[in-house]
Amino acid sequence: MRKHRWLLLLLALAAPLMQAQNQVVIAHRGASGYLPEHTLAAKAMAHAQGADFLEQDVVLTRDGVPIVLHDVHLETTTDVALVFPGRARKDGHYYAIDFSLAEIKQLRANERVGKDGKPVFSGRYPAGPRLFEVPTLAEEIALVQGLNTSTGRTAGIYPELKAPQWHIEQGLDPVPAVLAVLRDAGLERTPELVFLQCFDDRTLLRLKQEYQVPYPLIQLIGENSWREDGAVDYDAMQTAEGMARVATYASGIGPWIGQLYRGADQDAAPLLALARQHGLLVHPYTFRTEQLPPDLESFEQLLSVFLDDFAVDGIFTDFPDLARAYLDRSEKTVE
Ligand code: G3P
Ligand code: CA
Repeated sequence: MRKHRWLLLLLALAAPLMQAQNQVVIAHRGASGYLPEHTLAAKAMAHAQGADFLEQDVVLTRDGVPIVLHDVHLETTTDVALVFPGRARKDGHYYAIDFSLAEIKQLRANERVGKDGKPVFSGRYPAGPRLFEVPTLAEEIALVQGLNTSTGRTAGIYPELKAPQWHIEQGLDPVPAVLAVLRDAGLERTPELVFLQCFDDRTLLRLKQEYQVPYPLIQLIGENSWREDGAVDYDAMQTAEGMARVATYASGIGPWIGQLYRGADQDAAPLLALARQHGLLVHPYTFRTEQLPPDLESFEQLLSVFLDDFAVDGIFTDFPDLARAYLDRSEKTVE
């Protein structure tokens, strides 16, 4: 037993060194620091910037088509209120699930705005001519596959099933819909080019047990106070028992930055070691130049903490070019 404990400790210590070799850049909603999130333009730019994986947040239309959209509603990233006035629910939201794909294709995507109508990130892509559509998941995969062919550099996809329990309550199950798109795109033959992610553990368990998907699954970790879809207890998930359970169905975890980084004068939160003990990949989110932890002075410093000190396996970033450059520079330094 004692020997076993030492072996576990050794593995936990060595894992970062072994896994740091393959650190991946995950383009969070595309190169969304430069172009409106989840547009094909943002994805093409991320591919050109050297992202290893391109992220898709996925929700369903009324006719059950998986589209690439972060929110279950449309008004913060499209002109839906202009095109379809009067189609909001009583709570003021224009839910994607209330619109057919044909209707959603009439919309134009824009830089994310807040409730006040102002851009969430003021220095990013400006308002102006409305150039971009909301893509379907199938369209986006076709784009990535096309770029993989034309550039000779292969990037993968990283779909997130958004609010699956809510979708089911609304009468549509996103799981078979998303899996059908991946299958039709031939991705079952190259599962290493896919990560599937979700905040909802029940959905990941379904993917693992009911559907026995070939793709690695990533358990996203939020805060209980965020009231993500359903009643997931993220505090329990971050305990030794919780991580052991996650490891039964997932290949990795996606915590947010603050769940690992506790300040320049402190070690990584215990969650990192727990994940390592169970051989779980660690892909934290979201790395943005505009949102640094208060005691860090630069984006490079943030990258250094996570990629060098914590040796995480990948990061979700709005700036795939900066992460790529940082990793390439590190590799040269090592050589
Ligand atoms: O999926 C990782 C990260 O994107 C989770 O946060 O809200 O940007 O989807 P969110
Ligand atoms: Ca996401």
